[in-house]
Amino acid sequence: MSQDLNHWQQQIAACQSLKQLDDLRVHLIGKTGVITGLLKGLGALSFEERREKGAEINQLKDSVQALLEVKKTDLVEFELQQRLKHESVDVTLSPRPEHLGTIHPVSRTIDEIVAYFSQFGFTVATGPDIEDEEHNFNALNIPAHHPARQSHDTFYLPNQDGIVKLLRTHTSPVQIRTMKNESLPLRILAPGRTYRCDHDATHTPMFHQIEGLVIEKNIHMGHLKSCLIDFCRHFFEVDKLPVRFRPSFFPFTEPSAEMDIGCDRSNGTMKIGEGRDWLEILGCGMVHPNVLKNCGIDSDVYQGFAFGMGVERVAMLKYGIPDIRLFYESDTRWLSHYGFSPFTGS
Ligand code: DAH
Repeated sequence: MSQDLNHWQQQIAACQSLKQLDDLRVHLIGKTGVITGLLKGLGALSFEERREKGAEINQLKDSVQALLEVKKTDLVEFELQQRLKHESVDVTLSPRPEHLGTIHPVSRTIDEIVAYFSQFGFTVATGPDIEDEEHNFNALNIPAHHPARQSHDTFYLPNQDGIVKLLRTHTSPVQIRTMKNESLPLRILAPGRTYRCDHDATHTPMFHQIEGLVIEKNIHMGHLKSCLIDFCRHFFEVDKLPVRFRPSFFPFTEPSAEMDIGCDRSNGTMKIGEGRDWLEILGCGMVHPNVLKNCGIDSDVYQGFAFGMGVERVAMLKYGIPDIRLFYESDTRWLSHYGFSPFTGS
């Protein structure tokens, strides 16, 4: 027996891997292993012999098990050291070229517009995406029967404790929040997400708008026009960009206008600043006295103008992006084509 133990001890010591050791374990003490076989053979012996032999074999089995355990610990440690040696990081290697992310055209367009207006003292204001009827409609002078309030245009949320909440349909409620909470005079831009029940090649249920608001003393339509004309010429990078203001209607402005820019659609593509066509670019107007009153502002002392435009819409025009739906598909091929480098900006 001690000869056997010697032999097995050598076999265990010679194992080079955990796999080899486990095979040996099965061979010795597995269900059909050598030592298990010896134990099974005890049944044929007399009671006396069985007691003596049984004790001996069990001792042998314990010794083998202990040797296997010690060897296993050694091998685990050894294999770990081997892996650490081979998997170590060479910090002196030069960096591999990485796939760089790009700035999304929506973020880029918002940044461009904010950067332009910030030269003239505009600051960025924000408001919640989940609004109430007061800020999204009532305070903006949008009457109860207005079509925009109907549920086929507006996403209403489940009524909680009698308070109607909705996803804001435009960024104009930020005008109300700012006029109520900030001191005058005011020059703000409010970029952000807006929501409407709409889906086709030029409309998505979620899109972005950027709102502008100026409230000061002695502000008139001339300020509105020069501000927006200069902005469009700068944004579209066309010095003599033709522009026109068409009378329009928004409940929160009086007078209201839509601003168009000159373009050419004659050969299937859109060229901004050329040709004889017009393209609607934004809505604007002088802030309605009722809106000022709703925010506690005396319209005999302060006036102002406001404007709102679709971010995706102006991005599509400036960067020649044909389908609005692709803005939100996170297709990396689209993003690397239309996105902007964070380092060079192009
Ligand atoms: N809120 C309007 C819309 O979603 C856009 C707009 C028009 C905003 C005129 C304004 C404005 O501030 O003066 O269609």
